[in-house]
Amino acid sequence: MTGTAKRPPTTSAGLPLRVEGLGKTFRSARGAAVRALDGIDLTIGAGEFVSILGPSGCGKSTLLAILAGLDTATDGTASVGGRPVTAPLVDAGVMFQRDLLLDWHTCEDNILMQFRMRGLATAPYRDRARELLALVGMEHAAQRYPRELSGGMRQRVAICRALVHEPPLLFLDEPFGALDALTRENLNTELAALTAHSGATVVFVTHGIDEAVFLGDRAVVMSARPGRVIADVAIDLPVPRGPQVRELPQFTAYTARLRKLLAHEVQAVAVEGARS
Ligand SMILES: Nc1ncnc2c1ncn2[C@@H]1O[C@H](COP(=O)(O)OP(=O)(O)OP(=O)(O)O)[C@@H](O)[C@H]1O
Ligand SMILES: [Mg+2]
Repeated sequence: MTGTAKRPPTTSAGLPLRVEGLGKTFRSARGAAVRALDGIDLTIGAGEFVSILGPSGCGKSTLLAILAGLDTATDGTASVGGRPVTAPLVDAGVMFQRDLLLDWHTCEDNILMQFRMRGLATAPYRDRARELLALVGMEHAAQRYPRELSGGMRQRVAICRALVHEPPLLFLDEPFGALDALTRENLNTELAALTAHSGATVVFVTHGIDEAVFLGDRAVVMSARPGRVIADVAIDLPVPRGPQVRELPQFTAYTARLRKLLAHEVQAVAVEGARS
């Protein structure tokens, strides 16, 4: 154990989220318009865990960035806790597709950056950072630098950084993409337990159909670009979810249904690609 400072209480209740008629058009470097999102309507209750699936390039990361206040919509609105999102949300935990760890800080200091950025002392949270590192099997890495780690190890440190301040809102963009199958399943179980405990609202982007079902209260499927919501499936599986949930026939039925919906959209991307 390190540090004896008392850890201040953190926010735990999740925040609701609402998106209405949301659209986004990018301008490419050559000035062409790229319609990434179109007419997205989504209501996410406080404490809900919503998985988002969709073909590559359909606007999932763009949607997450707009919800987190890191990008702006071209049309429509996004609100969190009843307030329009107009600036980066300071009480959200965000994990990007790329880990964005700072190579000149140790892993522990990367995690504690959440507090430094908010002008808070880091000492009270050092134990929490180490607890999280242990949870993802990275206790040995606290004093190592990200450049010394593999891609999957870096991702695990980035997960700790997204969770350490126990945010009421979590935006996770393919957090387990770089991990081997078993580590990924173990972390799915840990994430289910952590978020159930904290009560955070979670928006979880993934290409993994199994983990979308395992973790989600709902799975939202997006169309090929421009991304629209084409299905919103309530996942009615027992909670808390442990590894045995994957053996249930309903689990297989959900994954089969989502796979079919996705296959149709991925096919649309392939046809579009062949035409252009
Ligand atoms: N800054 C930008 N300028 C121009 N086009 C962009 C920009 N950012 C994203 N796009 C385009 O918008 C579309 C959606 O991109 P986005 O990264 O949101 O997709 P995604 O669903 O997250 O894909 P993946 O599953 O591969 O991560 C893509 O066609 C992408 O090329
Ligand atoms: Mg993405």
